[in-house]
Amino acid sequence: MSDKPGTTWGIEPHTEAKHEILRYYLGAWFPILASVHRRLLYVDGFAGPGEYSKGEDGSPIIALKVARDHVLGKKLQHPNRELVFFFIEEDQARFQNLERKINEIQWPRNFSIRPQNDTFEEAFSSVLAKIEEQNKQLAPSFVFIDPFGPTGFPLSLIRRLAQQPRSEVLITFNYQSLNQWFLQDPRKHRHLDELYGSDIWHQALQISDPGRKENHLMEAYQKVIEGLGWKGRSFRMVNKHNQIQYYLCFATSNWQGMLAMKRAMWKAAPTGDFRYSDLTNPQQPRLFDKELYDTEYSKDLANQIYQSHRGQNIPKQEILEQDIAWHPVCIDRHLTEALKVLEYEATPPKITKVERSGGKKRRRRTYPDDCIITSAP
Ligand SMILES: C[S@@+](CC[C@H](N)C(=O)[O-])C[C@H]1O[C@@H](n2cnc3c(N)ncnc32)[C@H](O)[C@@H]1O
Repeated sequence: MSDKPGTTWGIEPHTEAKHEILRYYLGAWFPILASVHRRLLYVDGFAGPGEYSKGEDGSPIIALKVARDHVLGKKLQHPNRELVFFFIEEDQARFQNLERKINEIQWPRNFSIRPQNDTFEEAFSSVLAKIEEQNKQLAPSFVFIDPFGPTGFPLSLIRRLAQQPRSEVLITFNYQSLNQWFLQDPRKHRHLDELYGSDIWHQALQISDPGRKENHLMEAYQKVIEGLGWKGRSFRMVNKHNQIQYYLCFATSNWQGMLAMKRAMWKAAPTGDFRYSDLTNPQQPRLFDKELYDTEYSKDLANQIYQSHRGQNIPKQEILEQDIAWHPVCIDRHLTEALKVLEYEATPPKITKVERSGGKKRRRRTYPDDCIITSAP
């Protein structure tokens, strides 16, 4: 295997990009769920030492700080709310470093911080077992799975998580390691069976073209994850030589969660030597590039919206939930642009009326959340 890092190691730009996404996403996730639920659970299953070699924050500290420093901090730190942070780290030295980092700071009193020196599989499985035995439900949970390689998070465990309502997962899928160390070595194939929950990946052994093989394996994983009842989206992080660094696989059943993740991807889209691209469309190597693609995305979306809603009166909120949230890349601003295209650029116009509830006035070229859109037949 590759050189083993020590207790801490240098942070790489592609890791920083991932941390940015985590930061933005949690900035949305905590308040969305805390407005409805009293208790939230954040799990970092491969927590690491809590810092990088030059003192940069590791993912557990990032999550704690997002919740502590949030503009809605008062709500998140209300004594009636409990934010549970479960940090699991197998390596003892890294675990001790993580504990030290956590203890350096005094956290809000309603944070329940539970570091555990164990494997993700053991620790999280016993959390789920307790819940399952009592026929209870896990608090709404976000589980971050960020291992070095493709082992330690078997599908059998992910399936049990997916059975919990309002659970979601963000997985760093290390394709390179899977391809280099696991696929080639028959002694390690049982790990892939565990990862995929079956031998569905086997077909990849017959594929010689590297790109097709990668697509096959990643699509198979996404299919397996979606088979658990979530909807999934995978983002492929590559460097300037188009070499794959990792996939971020996100899965949720909540439309707001999916929308928040895409907003995070747009905000954190790295501009330097790294970029996210699409598993299904390698021809579009820079997925989240406002300059290059915003107009194109909005025009395509306009067409899509018109085709699915022609002749209907439809609340904007429904378009957001049905069309935008699950769209591969589009977010709110593409919807606004798409609606402008349909109302003002199309001849004849494809949106014939936009009305707000209660007869409220609407400014031209704006689409408030309470508006109802009438599309031409
Ligand atoms: C990529 S690092 C995590 C980095 C961290 N999430 C961050 O962003 O700062 C992976 C960590 O998982 C730990 N680890 C490896 N196997 C594990 C397992 N089965 N369960 C829990 N932790 C494990 C490693 O010791 C390592 O610290």
